[in-house]
Amino acid sequence: MAIKPVLRMGDDRLLQKARPVDRYGTPELRALLADMEDTMSALNGAGLAAPQIGIGLRVVIFGVTENPRYPDAAPVPKTVLINPVITPLDMEMDEDWEGCLSVPGMRGLVPRYCRLRYRGFDENGTLVDRTVDGFHARVVQHECDHLDGILYPMRIRDLRKFGFIEELFPGDPPGDD
Ligand code: NI
Repeated sequence: MAIKPVLRMGDDRLLQKARPVDRYGTPELRALLADMEDTMSALNGAGLAAPQIGIGLRVVIFGVTENPRYPDAAPVPKTVLINPVITPLDMEMDEDWEGCLSVPGMRGLVPRYCRLRYRGFDENGTLVDRTVDGFHARVVQHECDHLDGILYPMRIRDLRKFGFIEELFPGDPPGDD
């Protein structure tokens, strides 16, 4: 399909609440997912939400095999998640560095729930129901936040832990975003 331009922070469309998908298995939904996958892989992202390419639907994709942007992260299966619902398993949170294709060149230290269950549907309407922790849980929370118009900088507790990658991590190889 096509690599789409990714909207950047400041674009009002990133702040809108996305609408639920009401029909699965349609050509339109498959085309959207193909565009999202092409765009995410071209930019070497860990995930992408439909609003980031200007489509206000509750659709996210994510997955990490060996990603140079996240060298310490355990692999996360390639996943299509539509109309997701996240339920934290307890209130424990931890903080770690996040980036976002809509906030290029930057990183921030973001609190997230450590353990959660998520449910949603794939492109055919088949239920996805997983209980996850760690980086997998973090990625899901980040992507699903996009569906509610929330970008990770809005969750940073200490804005001194937000900045440009090259300044925060001097000497590290530059990231792709
Ligand atoms: Ni993002």
